[in-house]
Amino acid sequence: MGGSNPYIKEADVVLPTTKYRIRFEPEDPAVGEAIIVEVEPERIPYHETGQPGSILSIALASGIEIEHSCGGVCACSTCHVYVKEGLDSCNEATDDELDQLEEARGLTMQSRLSCQTVPNGTKEIRVVIPAWNVNLVKEGH
Ligand code: FES
Repeated sequence: MGGSNPYIKEADVVLPTTKYRIRFEPEDPAVGEAIIVEVEPERIPYHETGQPGSILSIALASGIEIEHSCGGVCACSTCHVYVKEGLDSCNEATDDELDQLEEARGLTMQSRLSCQTVPNGTKEIRVVIPAWNVNLVKEGH
């Protein structure tokens, strides 16, 4: 499922114009290794799920499974990740995203919904996938 949710305000997004990298790592290092994805602006949208250019869409297109029960339309909290580095180069969370995040387990100051978080490409991003999502990181990368 993809697209947008007509009941929420559009996020104020700036898409990248240059290549940048996202490092995805499981919260529990025993589960798997970090995966680094070089994001190419001309490939956006990477995937039909989530905001174009979102961390979720780039992850899914790169074989990194982050749960996304609502299909990336800001109507659940299953795509919760921690943006440990580069958060200030991402769009600000909308009130709708913050409302959904309140339902998320293990909320921190770096918590974001990956389907709603779009880096602008000016910084390297480090994303940690919470421990309860690690089984979903596909093996073989
Ligand atoms: S997939 Fe439901 S809010 Fe992101």
